Amino acid sequence: MKRLQDKVAIITGAANGIGYEAARKFGKEGANVVIADFDETKGLESEEVLKAGGLSVRFVQVNVSDPESVDEMVKQVITEYGKVDILVNNAGITRDAMLSKMTLEQFKQVIDVNLTGVFNCTQAVLASMLEQGKGKIINTSSVTGTYGNVGQTNYAAAKAGLIGMTKTWAKELGRKGINVNAVAPGFTETAMVSAMPDKVIDKMKAMVPMNRLGKPEDIANAYLFLASDESDYINGHVLHVDGGIMM
Ligand code: CAA
Ligand code: NAI
Repeated sequence: MKRLQDKVAIITGAANGIGYEAARKFGKEGANVVIADFDETKGLESEEVLKAGGLSVRFVQVNVSDPESVDEMVKQVITEYGKVDILVNNAGITRDAMLSKMTLEQFKQVIDVNLTGVFNCTQAVLASMLEQGKGKIINTSSVTGTYGNVGQTNYAAAKAGLIGMTKTWAKELGRKGINVNAVAPGFTETAMVSAMPDKVIDKMKAMVPMNRLGKPEDIANAYLFLASDESDYINGHVLHVDGGIMM
């Protein structure tokens, strides 16, 4: 039996990067995967590629920061599959600037997507998980959420806030059979990191005891473990997948 056989998994931000790799892995393990992303072009392309590989994948466009859009997305999933077993709150953005230059707009944009978006999506799937008495919620934090990072006031605040929400929900929902955990990736080779100045990337790489950046697959493997029954007694945990930066 595959590790996620017949599970219904919503992965936000799965049109690209880490989320896309997770969609591929979850699909290979037998899940019906919903790519819930803002980016329609890449979302449809990713759906097509993964379907061509024989996986059960569907793209639904969503803006996680808009509760109505999230409710509509979850409604479509329930109509098609009847339930939600797994939610990976992976969608995220950066709007980096030094504190002296960061606008309130940049601050709010990141909080809206990276923190409020997680609240919106989790609230929307909750009824289905409670009804089943089982569910897996995985929130994507970051090394920045515990370590801080120059230029990331907004992002660090959101990613640290996620850890507080994860632990709160683990306490509220554990006895209902729902596991809530976070994954905190280190710097990982996706578009988000390639947008950084080269000199900063080199500095970050030098901080990693394993002497390399993460690959999307490294993070997706952690999502898969926390989504599977193998992690049934793990709740409220923050799994650092960063080559050892956070020790
Ligand atoms: N550590 C220490 N100092 C740093 C630094 C760092 N990581 N980044 C910048 N600085 C220093 C610069 O060397 C510079 O110092 P001096 O004034 O002494 O020259 C000062 O801070 C200002 O830097 P800039 O000249 O680059 O200032 P800017 O206003 O042009 O740009 C910035 C600021 C937008 C923050 C830019 O430096 C930048 O993009 N930095 C990278 C931010 C970053 O790490 N983002 C992570 C993106 S990936 C991600 O978010 C995923 C995840 O979860 C980890
Ligand atoms: P990415 O930029 O490759 O993918 C992010 C995806 O989120 C994109 O497909 C984008 O369209 C989608 N998205 C953005 N705003 C959205 C919205 N409002 N509604 C729905 N979808 C939206 O980024 P990456 O690197 O794959 O990041 C995935 C997650 O991992 C993010 O939460 C990020 O903060 C986190 N992370 C990434 C690290 C890295 O170094 N790449 C390190 C630590 C955490």
